[in-house]
Amino acid sequence: MSNDYLYDIAVSVMNKAYAPYSHFKVGAALETTAGQIFTGCNIENSSYSLTSCAERVAIFKAISESQYKFKHLAIVAETDDFISPCGACRQVMSEFFSKDMPIYLYNRHGEYKQVSIAQLLPDSFRL
Ligand code: THU
Repeated sequence: MSNDYLYDIAVSVMNKAYAPYSHFKVGAALETTAGQIFTGCNIENSSYSLTSCAERVAIFKAISESQYKFKHLAIVAETDDFISPCGACRQVMSEFFSKDMPIYLYNRHGEYKQVSIAQLLPDSFRL
């Protein structure tokens, strides 16, 4: 099945990003195995390190609603290159995603690269 719908949702939430400092807007759409979609945009802060990335917002919204079983995630930014999640987000993904869950990294043209957390963060830290 096409994941175009997840891209469309990620783009619409990307437009809600609060990014007055970097002007770099990111959107994420995370679907559960039950078909519920949680969205996230990046939310910056004048104290820069308090910024939350889009994908972490989406994951935390889902977890805070007791949803732990995920089907796939789409992330998009207004760049020609595919968005590449930061290290902190990769570590959070590794906590909640199965090793092979599809993660679609989109560019501004609607093209994407499919990866997994096993590829993004091999040998991740776990207790
Ligand atoms: N950002 C995300 O939201 N997700 C990523 O995958 C990479 C970076 C945000 C954080 C910050 O608001 C802006 O992009 C520039 O780093």
